[in-house]
Amino acid sequence: MVHALSFPFDFLWGVSTSAHQFEGGNLDNQWAAWERRGGIRSGHTCAAACNWWQEAEADLDLCRDLGLNAIRISVDWGRVEPAEGQWNRSAMARYRAMLCAAVQRGMRPFVTLHHFTHPQWLEESGGFTAMSAAGKFALFAERMAGELGEFCRDWLTFNEPNVYASFGYVFGEFPPGLRYRMYDYALVMATMHRAHALAYERIHRVQPEAAVGIATNWVEFQAASNSASDRLMAYAYDTVFNRSTLQLFTCGNLQFPFGALAPEVPEVMQKIDFIGLNVYNRLHVRAPWNEASRRSGGLFVPDDAPQGDHGVELPYGEAYPDAIVAAATEYASLGVPLYITENGVPDRADRIRPWVIVQSLRRIQDLVTRGVDVRGYFHWSVVDNFEWSEGWTLRFGLYEMDPVTQTRRPRASAALYRDIIGRNGLSYEQLSRFSEPPAPCSG
Ligand code: BGC
Repeated sequence: MVHALSFPFDFLWGVSTSAHQFEGGNLDNQWAAWERRGGIRSGHTCAAACNWWQEAEADLDLCRDLGLNAIRISVDWGRVEPAEGQWNRSAMARYRAMLCAAVQRGMRPFVTLHHFTHPQWLEESGGFTAMSAAGKFALFAERMAGELGEFCRDWLTFNEPNVYASFGYVFGEFPPGLRYRMYDYALVMATMHRAHALAYERIHRVQPEAAVGIATNWVEFQAASNSASDRLMAYAYDTVFNRSTLQLFTCGNLQFPFGALAPEVPEVMQKIDFIGLNVYNRLHVRAPWNEASRRSGGLFVPDDAPQGDHGVELPYGEAYPDAIVAAATEYASLGVPLYITENGVPDRADRIRPWVIVQSLRRIQDLVTRGVDVRGYFHWSVVDNFEWSEGWTLRFGLYEMDPVTQTRRPRASAALYRDIIGRNGLSYEQLSRFSEPPAPCSG
């Protein structure tokens, strides 16, 4: 088969998912409580989500048909430990069955232990602003390694502590819905990394051959002008949001001034077997804030930038494949394998997704060729799923999914991804057909 760019023979091709967004019926975590309090901006309910608690196997069939050799799922801690110290055996059995089904279909599972959700009882005791959360999380992680280790050796302790801490404590978008609480932001980052360090040790004790990583989110921040204030603000976002995880693993602390707000976490240094990079966007930064930009923290997306669908109130971000290059180049300094554990775009009409897939993979292939140790790509996601405060407004699936009827219909991107996986590379035709982003939608 003639193709232009090939990937290594053992490259991992996956999709990424998370428990709360796919399973349905997760009632014992803080997101369910947030939804009951009216926190979901779109007004939608998660309800049965993609019905994975009943029938994940049907979507795992779709994954097998795409040719995937890897999949990322997560465990909902609230489902497994609904009250502190009480373990739900049937929930653990269901997770074992799901992982077994993935393995039987030829996929290597990567399991995330905290993908934005934890038990409501933990939230009521301060969530990750309480240092005691670290020990509780480590106990849960150890338990999961014991229960699920037969089917999984690749663990991600946390999904995006930088998103969790900033959306929950600075932007007010995620529970507990607080704004501009910089002290709490720093504390949460420190506690989550302390929890990671403890869990890293516990998982390795139960499963010495385990690989334990973390997923961090990377956003390209572009100063709107050359003014010192715009550039300073873009630099601040970049430092705090993109580089905190790197700083914690290399130096055991947060950067100035956050380092002064939170305790040091020297125990996390070098306790990392791989890094997951979740990369979607570029955001533009304008300072000083005027009234209109205050709500979005000075972040905006120019109308003519390539992008997918608009969120309920705010644009999702500029689709920007080059961000993968910046993220991987920066995190390669840790000297551990990298996986692109999330990449995609909200795009109900599948207008821009093919371009995002092809151009992101082109960047990854180039990084691999240059010796950067990127070992896999996980698209977000296989089917449309519950997008947190945006509810069902933003659609990320290779398959369109109707949350009411639960029917699935492939978008053109599903065939495109299947084709790329099948040839383990990109064809000349794909590279030329999807070389430029489609023109922005009018209106
Ligand atoms: C999160 C996912 C989310 C995706 C798309 C990621 O940052 O980990 O849970 O659905 O972005 O917004």
